[in-house]
Amino acid sequence: MYGLCCALLMAIASHRVLAIDMGYYNPVLLNGSMMTDSHEPVNVIISNRSDPRVMVESIIGGGLYNYLAGAGFGGECFGLHMGGLQSIDLGDGTGTQIQKNILRYQYFHDPYLGTCLESIYGGNHVRVFKQETSGAYFLATSAEQDSTTHHNLGWDAYDIGRNYFIGNSTNVTIPEELTTHSTFSGHIEQNKWRYMTNITFVDGLLDTNRSLWNHFAQVQEVGEEVSDGLVAILEIHVDKL
Ligand SMILES: *[C@@H]1O[C@H](CO)[C@@H](O)[C@H](O)[C@H]1NC(C)=O
Ligand SMILES: *[C@@H]1O[C@H](CO)[C@@H](O)[C@H](O)[C@H]1NC(C)=O
Ligand SMILES: *[C@@H]1O[C@H](CO)[C@@H](O)[C@H](O)[C@H]1NC(C)=O
Ligand SMILES: *[C@@H]1O[C@H](CO)[C@@H](O)[C@H](O)[C@H]1NC(C)=O
Ligand SMILES: *[C@@H]1O[C@H](CO)[C@@H](O)[C@H](O)[C@H]1NC(C)=O
Ligand SMILES: *[C@@H]1O[C@H](CO)[C@@H](O)[C@H](O)[C@H]1NC(C)=O
Repeated sequence: MYGLCCALLMAIASHRVLAIDMGYYNPVLLNGSMMTDSHEPVNVIISNRSDPRVMVESIIGGGLYNYLAGAGFGGECFGLHMGGLQSIDLGDGTGTQIQKNILRYQYFHDPYLGTCLESIYGGNHVRVFKQETSGAYFLATSAEQDSTTHHNLGWDAYDIGRNYFIGNSTNVTIPEELTTHSTFSGHIEQNKWRYMTNITFVDGLLDTNRSLWNHFAQVQEVGEEVSDGLVAILEIHVDKL
C-alpha cells in the first residue's frame, strides 16, 4: 500500500516536472542528446522565455550575435584554423544539426585583433546550436590552452568555459562552487542595446557518467569530477538604449 501510494505520487510529480514550461525541451527525453558528436557537453541554454529580439540569429535588432558580441565573443580569426565543426541532435525532429557558428572570446573586445590573439593565446569558445521546436539556443562552451598545445583543453575546461561565458554575459564574476540554488543576474550593453540576463542552474540534463565526455582525461583532476554537471539557463531581457 505504502509502495503504491508513493509510486503514484512520484509518477504525478515527475509528470508535473515534464509539464512545466522550462523554456526549452530536454533533448534526452526526445531521443536527442546534450553532447555533441565529439562528446562535448552543452552547458548553457538560452531559454525561450527570453526577449524574442535576442532569440533571432542576427547581429542587428538586438539579436543573438549582438548579445554574444557584447559578451566578448566574435567570429573566428580569418585564415586561422579553429578546429572542426561539431554536430548534435537536440530532439527537435530535424535530426543531427551542424553547429551554427563557433565564436571565440575577443581579447580587449577588439573584433579582429581580439579573436586572432585568442587563437594564439587560447581562451574561451562557444559553439551555437538551436532547438527548432522551442527556439532555445544550446551552447557548448569550453576554455582552451594556447595554440602551442594545439588547443588542448585545460583542467575543468567545460565548467570554466561556462563560468567565463555567463560571467561575461552579465559582467558578474562567477565563483567556482555552484549549486542548483545559485542565481546570478547582471547586464551588459552592446551597440545601443542593453541585455539583462538572469541565470539559474539545472542538474540532471547532462549524463552523470562523465567518463563519456571528450578529453575527460585532460580536464579531470585526479580525484575530482570532470564537471559539476550543471547547465546554466539564461533568461535575457532586452532594452533599446
Ligand atoms: C518554449 O519552450 C516550451 C517548452 O518548455 C514550449 O512549451 C513553448 O511552446 C516554447 N515557446 C515558444 C515560443 O516556442
Ligand atoms: C532515436 O535515435 C536513434 C539513433 O539516432 C534512431 O536510430 C532512431 O530512429 C530514433 N528514434 C526515434 C523514435 O526518433
Ligand atoms: C570573461 O572571459 C575571460 C576569458 O575568456 C575571463 O578571463 C574573464 O574573467 C571573464 N570575465 C568574467 C566577469 O567572468
Ligand atoms: C563591469 O563592471 C565593472 C564594475 O564591477 C565596471 O567597472 C565595468 O565597466 C563593467 N564592464 C562592462 C563591460 O560593463
Ligand atoms: C531577474 O532578476 C532580477 C534581479 O534579481 C529580478 O528583479 C527579476 O524579477 C528577474 N526576472 C525574472 C524574469 O526572473
Ligand atoms: C561509464 O561509462 C564507461 C564508458 O562507457 C563505462 O565503462 C562505465 O561502466 C560507466 N560507468 C557507469 C557508472 O555507468
